[in-house]
Amino acid sequence: MADPSPVLGLRGLVRRYGEGPRAVRVLDGVDLDVRPGETVAIMGASGCGKSTLLHLAAGMDRPDAGEVRIAGVEVHGRPEPARTRERARRVGLVFQDFNLIESLTARENVELAVWLSGAAVAADRIDALAGELGIGELLERRPDQLSGGQQQRVAIARALIHGPAVLLADEPTGSLDRVAGEQVLDVLFDAARARDCALVLVTHSDQAAARCDRVLALRDGRLVPA
Ligand SMILES: Nc1ncnc2c1ncn2[C@@H]1O[C@H](COP(=O)(O)OP(=O)(O)OP(=O)(O)O)[C@@H](O)[C@H]1O
Ligand SMILES: [Mg+2]
Repeated sequence: MADPSPVLGLRGLVRRYGEGPRAVRVLDGVDLDVRPGETVAIMGASGCGKSTLLHLAAGMDRPDAGEVRIAGVEVHGRPEPARTRERARRVGLVFQDFNLIESLTARENVELAVWLSGAAVAADRIDALAGELGIGELLERRPDQLSGGQQQRVAIARALIHGPAVLLADEPTGSLDRVAGEQVLDVLFDAARARDCALVLVTHSDQAAARCDRVLALRDGRLVPA
């Protein structure tokens, strides 16, 4: 059988910062195909461009050259708000610092993602997903009433509730201690696998990377096998 078409396809991505002779090519020809349900780790030194790469993959930023396809849909050339719409529909994002909205409860944070995605999600799906992630009793709390590990589980619920094709996670355990970090990785991998959702995990941790099907390193602006 032919390979299924990738849920994320990056071709020749270039991203420069700055102008003229002082311009720096942070990304210099990144290629990546992520298959449905595949888990891929991206490692590399601090400042090498991992977050820049995830922002491009999510359509939050535009490349200077190259192509980004999410679930077969070309996003690199589109203006806002089309990129935002594709992202909200097809991608889930998890950040190091959780990025929950402090004035909203956990449930409202998840509901906001449902609304932005335009997906039809029954209210009891939020409770079911929260139960699966171990935060079923915490949905009425605001972020300041939750531990870091609990906040990251809420962020994972927010990222998965609309059924994305791919989850992009940028050092999701970087703000957590070892035990909380491992628990968060357990629920992240289990929940992604249960949905056949692909996962791109940026991490500095060899143990976290070892959980993935493939480990890549970003070096001199390109992705290479680690
Ligand atoms: N908006 C910007 N303007 C100018 N330079 C930037 C900008 N954003 C990032 N950079 C530079 O691009 C490089 C890559 O940054 P990026 O945040 O992608 O690295 P990273 O691999 O995620 O690092 P870390 O592991 O520390 O999170 C860095 O040298 C950074 O200073
Ligand atoms: Mg980063």
